[in-house]
Amino acid sequence: MRPRGLEPLTCGLGNRRSILLSYERSHETLPLHLTPTSAGYKAPAYTIDDLAYTLARMSEQDSDKPTHGPDSDKPKSERDSDKPMGEQGSDTPAGQHDPDKSAGQPEQGPAPKRARRKRYAGTYPRRFEQRYKELDPQAHPDTIQQVRSHGRTPAGSHVPIMVDEVMTALAVGPGQVVADCTLGYGGHAERFLKLLGPSGKLIGLDVDGGQLQRTVERLKFAGFEMIARHSNFAGLAKVMGELGVAGVDVIFADLGVSSMQVDEPARGFSYKQDGPLDMRMDARIKLSAADHLARLSEAELSQLLWELADEEDHAAIARTIVLRRGRSPILRTHELTRLIFQAKGIDPAKHKQAVAKGEVAPHPAARTFQALRILVNNELASLRELLRVAPECLLPGGKIGLVTFHSGEDRLVKQAFAAGLGHGVYQAICEEPLRPSGREVFDNPRSRPARFRWAQKA
Ligand SMILES: C[S@@+](CC[C@H](N)C(=O)[O-])C[C@H]1O[C@@H](n2cnc3c(N)ncnc32)[C@H](O)[C@@H]1O
Repeated sequence: MRPRGLEPLTCGLGNRRSILLSYERSHETLPLHLTPTSAGYKAPAYTIDDLAYTLARMSEQDSDKPTHGPDSDKPKSERDSDKPMGEQGSDTPAGQHDPDKSAGQPEQGPAPKRARRKRYAGTYPRRFEQRYKELDPQAHPDTIQQVRSHGRTPAGSHVPIMVDEVMTALAVGPGQVVADCTLGYGGHAERFLKLLGPSGKLIGLDVDGGQLQRTVERLKFAGFEMIARHSNFAGLAKVMGELGVAGVDVIFADLGVSSMQVDEPARGFSYKQDGPLDMRMDARIKLSAADHLARLSEAELSQLLWELADEEDHAAIARTIVLRRGRSPILRTHELTRLIFQAKGIDPAKHKQAVAKGEVAPHPAARTFQALRILVNNELASLRELLRVAPECLLPGGKIGLVTFHSGEDRLVKQAFAAGLGHGVYQAICEEPLRPSGREVFDNPRSRPARFRWAQKA
């Protein structure tokens, strides 16, 4: 994590939770976030190493100790890497024992050598797993800033959508109880937690167990406590029953997949990067996208593409898939993408050139991938169930707010809220959906299709 060839210059206390290291030459500042615990401050393991190194360098400079030898003007990292294995980080000559270092301490073996990171081709890392800086945002805030300034979402994170609009419409206040039904990266949850204060309560649900765990830890690290449950939001009433919560002030859901899920090729949501055709948000779901492609009839596939994604070339795509799977199963995202180009008669090379020229059009595979994802995760059935149970989960005057990303979802929400208003279940609903501002779409293009609707219980 230490920039190669840069010598740490200063180390000082930043705000309550960070220690600042800055590096000469680049003037780079690296905040190391510390968590206050009853036993003092705790830092993530990777930061300890840097901190120890910096403090050692500072005391070396303080004592103005002259350095000798042919390597003395090389950075320490390079001097260390020239040493044979087992000696790195040690000032004791090989084979000699330094009594001061081991006094009162158990004998330790040589420090294990750190595996070298494999270098990616080109200037910028292209593959998800190579973006190690983006995947460690606390250690690389400058990289995160740079990626965001280009309108991209750093790998392993998610930029929350329409946060101000959501908070204003739902009017969350101190001491309330909020159910965030799609915790994701916790972007909305973090704002809810700030508004709720210590007297409030946040119940966070997500079907993606791994993601839920990571977000709970991230929020805990930022100093927030919440109640988290690995659950489909269709089971909200059941979760509330188990927790002994009779009603909530706010129900919120930000539908679909998070950027972390889409950007990780192994999850199979992305038509841009190759991966297994999986698309299961919840590992407990039995059938993957590849399983569905193998089992659906041509007519079923065609209908699915039309109904769940308004895909105009639904018949041609279904025909191409069925012909191809007669030879061998379709198991990879890029295989499916190639078949969609073929069915639509689009030359992939020409499409690539058009994208490079900045001609923005939806990716030819986008609608098929969307339809398959909705099918695999039974998304519309879950949404219908949430809309059905919401009035019984809300306290009188409580609000429900939903962010949707395609017309099928938005239609369901609009109809359920209008019916609730008609039956006197809701006292007010938003007349038109709220949309992200032009500025937000510019900063975060993934927000473009979002629609936000809310309703207030009578
Ligand atoms: C768009 S992301 C939410 C992002 C979040 N609002 C944030 O700011 O980080 C959607 C999340 O909802 C989860 N999800 C999707 N459908 C769900 C369902 N039926 N029940 C619970 N969680 C669901 C996904 O796993 C994903 O993590």
